[in-house]
Amino acid sequence: MASLVKQPVAESRILIVGLGLIGGSLAAALRDAGFRGAILSCDPDPDEIARGIEMGLIDGGDTRLENVIDDVSLVVLAVPVLAMRGVMGELAGLLARAAPEVVITDVGSTKAAIRDCAIAAFGRVPPNLVLGHPIAGSEKSGVAAANPELYVDHKVILTPEPDTDPAALARVRALWAACGAEVLEMDVARHDQVLARTSHLPHLLAFSLVDTLARQDERLEIFRYAAGGFRDFTRIAGSDPVMWRDIFTANRDAVLASLDDFEAGVARLRDAVERGDGDAMLATFDRASHARHYFESLLNKTSYQAEYQMQQQGKLRYRVSPGGAVVGRIRVPGDKSISHRSIMLGALAEGVTEIKGFLEGEDSLATLQAFREMGVAIEGPHQGRVTVHGVGMHGLKAPSGPLYVGNAGTAMRLFAGLLAGQSFDTELTGDTSLTKRPMNRVADPLRLMGAEIDTAEGGRPPLHLHGGRALKGITYDMPMASAQVKSCLLLAGLYAEGETRVREPAPTRDHTERMLTGFGYAVHREDDTCWLEGGGKLTAAPIDVPSDISSATFFLVAAAITPGSDLVLEHVGINPTRIGVINILQLMGADLRLTNEREVGGEPVADLHIRYAPLKGIEIPVDQVPLAIDEFPALFIAAANAEGTTRLRGAEELRVKESDRLQAMADGLAAIGVEHTLYPDGIDIVGGGNVEGPNYGGGRIDSLEDHRIAMAFAIAALRASGEIIIDDCANVATSFPGFVDLARKVGLTLQEESNEEGA
Ligand code: S3P
Repeated sequence: MASLVKQPVAESRILIVGLGLIGGSLAAALRDAGFRGAILSCDPDPDEIARGIEMGLIDGGDTRLENVIDDVSLVVLAVPVLAMRGVMGELAGLLARAAPEVVITDVGSTKAAIRDCAIAAFGRVPPNLVLGHPIAGSEKSGVAAANPELYVDHKVILTPEPDTDPAALARVRALWAACGAEVLEMDVARHDQVLARTSHLPHLLAFSLVDTLARQDERLEIFRYAAGGFRDFTRIAGSDPVMWRDIFTANRDAVLASLDDFEAGVARLRDAVERGDGDAMLATFDRASHARHYFESLLNKTSYQAEYQMQQQGKLRYRVSPGGAVVGRIRVPGDKSISHRSIMLGALAEGVTEIKGFLEGEDSLATLQAFREMGVAIEGPHQGRVTVHGVGMHGLKAPSGPLYVGNAGTAMRLFAGLLAGQSFDTELTGDTSLTKRPMNRVADPLRLMGAEIDTAEGGRPPLHLHGGRALKGITYDMPMASAQVKSCLLLAGLYAEGETRVREPAPTRDHTERMLTGFGYAVHREDDTCWLEGGGKLTAAPIDVPSDISSATFFLVAAAITPGSDLVLEHVGINPTRIGVINILQLMGADLRLTNEREVGGEPVADLHIRYAPLKGIEIPVDQVPLAIDEFPALFIAAANAEGTTRLRGAEELRVKESDRLQAMADGLAAIGVEHTLYPDGIDIVGGGNVEGPNYGGGRIDSLEDHRIAMAFAIAALRASGEIIIDDCANVATSFPGFVDLARKVGLTLQEESNEEGA
């Protein structure tokens, strides 16, 4: 079904020169779209014209152009690429008989050769000629195969010249839009390169494979045994030979360049097969398999990436009803910080790292994909299980394009350290939120180590890291308490000569140090300074990722503020550098107990049991701030329900997270009527303090596309007097896939809806 609205076409008389599958399908689509004007055709085969008339696609036609050109307003050249020269020459001599405003377009699969034909015929590309190419087709040919849906949801690439008449361009756009196509523009050279890779090369391979096999088996016996794989791979070998001869002749250079790349890839694979190098094979197949799934997901718009992209464009809103209680026993997804690091260290290790509990959220999946792009074979994730085939400290390969890390500041900063010491260049990019976040905090110290890094203005992403630089260890006094900066420098330190020492002004999460130690790399600590010596190696070790205390926090606070609540959160990471939220909630009077404490893979975990108890406002101890840095959006909601005022200071870092979280929370609190005062580095929140009734109103919240702001206000609804509507919640998928289901499971009434319209 067409997802694009078909527009009416204003042409009076359309002439399609060449009534094959493409020309015939255009006529059929125009008819379907309700086009009322005349459609004529010129084709050397009178039978094709007769069939077109019989099928009701065209009103008339002729084998000679001169007999159908009169008063035509739009000419569509749908002849094979090599027939174009003759047809254009003839058309140039007859054009005076067409309508004065006539526009010409074509459908040829290569554009440079057709532009040359136009220059030969007209002396230049006339402003009323708009070259184009519908990316649609089938292995069938002839008007009998015409399909009115052929262009629906397909792309049509137009390649206008700088002096193409905008009105002509608009009319050709309207023609294809009427057929349900998505119209794009690019220049001729780019078009030919793109098509050589995505269409011409696969056709060449299919023709060649079928021909090679058919020749090897005179009686074609082999095809009897050929199953689905052969059929899928070779369907396009049934395509029109003349048309494809013309395409390869016309797009020779671009096709040869793509064939050279392909041959190099096949040679690498041949070599891996010959040597029995299973890791190399797996790396290639795995990258290809994921790329294929990704491609399919873009077509089907189902998988996580496509869904994410769709949500980013289409937006997502939460509508949360007031009231409810929070009861049950749940397990929230794996820790984001540890998941990122498990892939990074697993990739650089020697041996195979088995990961359990990996967070299948957008951010950590982007990290995983980035390592695939650097040649690391990674299996999974399958229900939190990932197998990383480590390539060793110097085994990463140059990615073929920029590495995209999505919404994740952690990934970008840790990658910066890890990639600064590689032999190749890399570029790190991210989404719009990440593009606004400060990167000089890592670029500056990395430069002191000898790295060469370019940033965008103001030290913002993208980051361009120049490879092949010799790094030297430094002693760095961090100006802010940041685990990301510390981890970045330690990772760069692995590649540096001598010791890299980092002093932190306050303790920050130590997952990098723990995991390095678990992988056999000595990391030392004395008071506020940790250090390591470069040049060592990592040895793969199993990783069990605990549930993320930052995700658990939303439900801890939900239960803490709601009378009647009783909730157990299982297997939550309680690393001492992450438990600020537990300490703060307990100081506020929460009934929160840790049970079943144990250690898994170098990280302490526990089940957290929380029951409702009235909360009181507190002065949040400054030393707890870095230990609860991601938990403040939810803690502000706890404060809004406590009795008295809760004061936070020393938290200016909140202003440079996925959003300015102090401002975003203050705006949201204002929207639901919670009294507060904002400071540059903190906030005072006056809690409602009601033990039974609501503590604030309902309202509409702008999450600023920040996952934690969205989730914080979702739980706030438990104690609101009215509905809370939160806009732009799609990014919840970056850290907490399945949040909505779990929220509903424990007792929230939360609807998801699109916030495109009327927002
Ligand atoms: C993280 C460190 C914290 C935290 C972020 C994850 C990490 O950032 O906010 O979500 O994994 O190292 P800073 O270290 O910059 O405060």
